[in-house]
Amino acid sequence: MQIKLEKKTKKFGGAYTNIVCKEKGVEQLVREGKTVSLEVVAGKFSKVTPRTLRTLIRGMVQSAKKNKLEKIVLELSFTDFPKCSEYGEEWFWSTVAENLILADYEYTSYKSKKPHYALSEVALVTDGGKAVQNGVAHGTTVAVEINVCRNLANTPGSDMTPAILAEKTKAILKGTKAVVTILDEKKIEKLGMGGVIGVGKGSKHKPRFIIIEYRGGKKTEKPIVFVGKGVTFDTGGLQIKPGMAMYEMHMDMSGGASVIASLSAIAKLGLKKNVIGLIPAVENGVGDDAIRPGDVLTMMSGATVDVLHTDAEGRLILADALHYARKYEPKLVVDIATLTGASLVAIGQHANVIMTKDRALEDAFRDLGEESGDYTFPLPLWDEYKQYTKGVHGDISNIPSSDSKYGGTITAGMFLSHFTKKMKWVHIDMAPRMTSVGSDKLAKGATGEPTRLLVKIVEKL
Ligand code: BES
Ligand code: MN
Ligand code: ZN
Repeated sequence: MQIKLEKKTKKFGGAYTNIVCKEKGVEQLVREGKTVSLEVVAGKFSKVTPRTLRTLIRGMVQSAKKNKLEKIVLELSFTDFPKCSEYGEEWFWSTVAENLILADYEYTSYKSKKPHYALSEVALVTDGGKAVQNGVAHGTTVAVEINVCRNLANTPGSDMTPAILAEKTKAILKGTKAVVTILDEKKIEKLGMGGVIGVGKGSKHKPRFIIIEYRGGKKTEKPIVFVGKGVTFDTGGLQIKPGMAMYEMHMDMSGGASVIASLSAIAKLGLKKNVIGLIPAVENGVGDDAIRPGDVLTMMSGATVDVLHTDAEGRLILADALHYARKYEPKLVVDIATLTGASLVAIGQHANVIMTKDRALEDAFRDLGEESGDYTFPLPLWDEYKQYTKGVHGDISNIPSSDSKYGGTITAGMFLSHFTKKMKWVHIDMAPRMTSVGSDKLAKGATGEPTRLLVKIVEKL
């Protein structure tokens, strides 16, 4: 889909039908021969907020696609959206462009018949100006990378092994300033990453450790490090997931995918910051060599971990990656992971869970969530929960060793906190946003979150 900018002075030709779009929706679409269009004349958008702007725009695309429109014309003016003024005009246009592109996305790689219909063009009729141009360019860059993220996450597990994810990372970042380094199993083992090696043992598709280094800032500036969970398929390990609980576990690398995509967006935007992406990539399989409940792993940090549940694998690989992050002396570490089913129980599917001991960061992440559209909501990381990470024979255990069936998202976060000491750190459990829900007005499958948030963090923090 192309977004074309047109000046407001231009008179619409006969090919278009003028339809006033009511604030409620965009149902009034008309076909007119081959070229059909929806023209949104500045309506009463006084109630539209940043949140509803996103779904309004996506709804337009959905309606256009449902009606097989090839081209739509949107006549919009920033001043008609008084409740969308808080982040400025450039943000407004960026958000418009971004959501047009996100709503247009469908995952069709595995359809045998290629679709012959596409919404090929959205003409944005505006009063012109730098804010429109910059905003649309920004939103387009970010959204294209979000869709790259969705492609990675939507790819079936058999076609997205750790080695393939590593190759895709190189391909995606090729031609940018970002440097990609792939560590294979031998190098991972040499580093002493017992968590990554341990989880990877149950699969013939061996682990990779993906490192992306983007240095757009001053040499002396400390980087932000993003750590993304890259479980290319999560069977649950020997404690195998039952029935449909295993379905969609090819998306257990969504955190890693969003790190790859956000670094690509950051590089393409040429942000003047230093940013590192780390993705431990493994398949959690059930082979003969798979880790067994009761096994004790020695992590890169030197800590020993009781594996009390083979399905709590994400925290084991993240622990090593978080420890590895230390060498960059980061000003901030953020890990992004489809870590717990419990997070969906806790907050449903409309926000990413954030956890940090730093209140200022918690507030900043909530605000940036609103601004970016990747909404976040906090859970605690209080010392009261530390008892649930006590080890039996090892130092700590990967799930609570005693009577705690509650608060699974928090105990997972507490586990990670053992490996982030003295670093500024935010944990994002993105499991609630791994897949879209109907009201998102996005295609079924991966949402591409929290890519927008990660870009925003780099821009603003
Ligand atoms: N990848 C899953 C979490 C998950 C579940 C993400 C559903 C998205 C949707 C994770 O590795 C996992 O299996 N977690 C377990 C932890 C449990 C064994 C303590 C879970 O949530 O059941
Ligand atoms: Mn698991
Ligand atoms: Zn998992």
